[in-house]
Amino acid sequence: MQIITYHELKDKTDLFLLWAKSFGWLCTPKQMDHWVKTDERLIGTPVGVCAIIDGNLAGFVGIMEIPTRNKHGDTEIVGGIWAVSTRPMYARRGVGGYLLEAAEKHFRSKGIRLSLLTTSRTLISYRGYVSFGYREIEKVNSYAHYYKIPQRSAKADPFPPGPKGKAPKLDLEQILSNFDRYARNHCGFTNRLIGALKEQQQMGYFESRYSTVQDDGHLLSSSQMGSLSVWEIIAFKQKTARELIQRAVELSTAGVYVRYVFDPLVAATLEKMSFRKDPGSYGVLMAKPLAGVTIDDIYDDTFLWSSADFF
Ligand SMILES: CC(C)(COP(=O)(O)OP(=O)(O)OC[C@H]1O[C@@H](n2cnc3c(N)ncnc32)[C@H](O)[C@@H]1OP(=O)(O)O)[C@@H](O)C(=O)NCCC(=O)NCCS
Repeated sequence: MQIITYHELKDKTDLFLLWAKSFGWLCTPKQMDHWVKTDERLIGTPVGVCAIIDGNLAGFVGIMEIPTRNKHGDTEIVGGIWAVSTRPMYARRGVGGYLLEAAEKHFRSKGIRLSLLTTSRTLISYRGYVSFGYREIEKVNSYAHYYKIPQRSAKADPFPPGPKGKAPKLDLEQILSNFDRYARNHCGFTNRLIGALKEQQQMGYFESRYSTVQDDGHLLSSSQMGSLSVWEIIAFKQKTARELIQRAVELSTAGVYVRYVFDPLVAATLEKMSFRKDPGSYGVLMAKPLAGVTIDDIYDDTFLWSSADFF
């Protein structure tokens, strides 16, 4: 088995197949090439490591270098592992493990002290990550999730067509500015970047038609079968929180699901507006210290992570 970087992989067509089979993610080489040039977390990095067996692409592990804020207020670049995938015909031969090691080797060579990844406890990879030394960041697990299925008339179409017309353009700079203002007193994923935000939008994490941006808060959502999946609500006043939540209810023709609510004001407002609350998630953020440090040496309990920063 040979391990090369994303840049060294000449024909990237099989990455399309690998990601489709692994995550149902349909990303063409041209689309990835675009993000490699625009997502600050990928610019100047190897982007990923690829395993080659008998001339075939056998697996991929993505590499990001993500700026965060540590508990001393300094920028702490962390390693971000993404799109861990092995082609089914090469599974259980150690491909994923070797690639993960290669990615961590890269992080160490850059003096990066922490490797992070997002995964689900329901995936077989979870056990592998634990045996490689990754542990869940508990703080993220303490964020509650909220949901509501607003009453509709008994005769209402269960699958009404979505809104028509031109979708409004979202003010991404305002989203950054709102988030910066909110994150001021936090450590963790506080350094949101415009290129990364554009990528999240292009991937469909939030859609302009189902999102609202104001100068005192925003709602970032996408839609599935008429239900709204809310990735982030930022509000500086309870009135704004109420308006944005009401807007989510109006934009939905079915239910509303608000994931990983990190802000106590938004959480309290959701409860007041009769949303049901459910703790915990299968989706987790995991970390592995790469140098002689612990997570607590780097972050404190003001640690912030928004699902809008999922990688
Ligand atoms: C996860 C994945 C990359 C593992 O790739 P792989 O090359 O087969 O993994 P390895 O052979 O290096 O195994 C690494 C560890 O993962 C775990 N693992 C992998 N496949 C497993 C399986 N079928 N059953 C149980 N554990 C498994 C084991 O802990 C294994 O270590 P072990 O063999 O010492 O027990 C591959 O299954 C995959 O592409 N899955 C679909 C995409 C996905 O879920 N990616 C993770 C997203 S967070």
